[in-house]
Amino acid sequence: MLVLGIESSCDETGAAIVQDGRYLRSNIVASQIEIHNRYGGVVPEVASRQQLSTIIPTLETALDKAGCGWSDIDAIAATYGPGLAGSLLVGLTVGKALALARNLPFIGINHLEAHIYANWLRKDEAAPPDNALAAADWTYQDGDPIFPLICLVISGAHSELALLRDHGQYELLGRTRDDAAGEAFDKVSRILGLGYPGGPAIQQAAQRAEEALLQLKKPVALARSAYRLPRAWLRGTYDFSFSGLKTAMLHLAEGVVNSQQNSGAAGNGEGKQISQYTRMGAQAAQYGAPNVDLLASSFQEAIVDVLAVKTRLAAQEYHVKQVLLAGGVAANLSLRARLEQELLPLRIHLRYPPIDLCTDNAAMIAGAAFFHLCRGEQSGLDLDVHPGLSLPFRK
Ligand code: KG4
Ligand code: ZN
Repeated sequence: MLVLGIESSCDETGAAIVQDGRYLRSNIVASQIEIHNRYGGVVPEVASRQQLSTIIPTLETALDKAGCGWSDIDAIAATYGPGLAGSLLVGLTVGKALALARNLPFIGINHLEAHIYANWLRKDEAAPPDNALAAADWTYQDGDPIFPLICLVISGAHSELALLRDHGQYELLGRTRDDAAGEAFDKVSRILGLGYPGGPAIQQAAQRAEEALLQLKKPVALARSAYRLPRAWLRGTYDFSFSGLKTAMLHLAEGVVNSQQNSGAAGNGEGKQISQYTRMGAQAAQYGAPNVDLLASSFQEAIVDVLAVKTRLAAQEYHVKQVLLAGGVAANLSLRARLEQELLPLRIHLRYPPIDLCTDNAAMIAGAAFFHLCRGEQSGLDLDVHPGLSLPFRK
């Protein structure tokens, strides 16, 4: 089954063609990062206008790259939430209109569920011949994730720990009580003058700090503990809270003097405001790395610490054999390595999608759609956008 997926929930326009929920025939993402970087975050009105101008060329490229004509496509899927209303509306409307015009089945997909299903995608494996998959075999193929499993869904607006007993069966174990993990990365990146999106910028700064220490033949752990930052453990729950950490970072940055002249520390290119942590100069010299990089490393460690420990505890309590990471923050290398370290002694296997399939893309939309379509599910063409949609947890 070939599904054409469309993603337009925020600032990425995606179109992809995926076979049997797993094999990528094409996956095109038009990013608006350059445009929003100027404002330090996504401007919704700009995002939806941009979606409008890129969606058709993106779709055409996806069909082209897959070597597909319309007659090859079996169904169309588009994100209907959560996300920015204006952006969602573009992809959903185009998806429904194409389904109507081509007389194809249509299904609206929950963006968060799609992030989870990115773990079923196989990037570098050639697709088997069409129709090789027996109808009864759609639930499992060798190499798929194995239920029951724990999934940590961490994106720009969500941080949820879920137990998945089977396809479509979600139990909520914990969620953030304030900021999402990605949101914390983005806000702290802005505080540190490192730009948008914050996750990759902070990860890079942390890597610079660690490399500087390595050159001095000092352990990298020194960078991660250079600043003592709070961790909200919220013991006895699987909930998260990152707002205290964000406030601590703000207080640490109180001594900031914004300076155009001081370059190097933030490494953010020309013409951008660069933050200089004046009060911490002495400490920076001691560690041989710019303060902003040490701060980034300590901050990343504080987030990773809580996410990894809580996920490991949940995996132990529910006796699962596999843990999945999903959402943009799943691209974080430090989190992947730390969680692997936590799970290895327990013989629990950690899985995560390739980096470019962690952040927003349409392949995951087409992938998730396959499993719904196989259950005989479709959406009506009256389906509207749901900006505040959450995962369909069982009560
Ligand atoms: O899933 P996603 O692409 O969009 C949403 O659905 O929200 O996630 C975007 C979030 C942003 O907050 C971004 O800073 C974060 O994912 N992110 C990362 C990394 N790459 C993206 N966070 C930490 N480390 C990364 N390498
Ligand atoms: Zn996303």
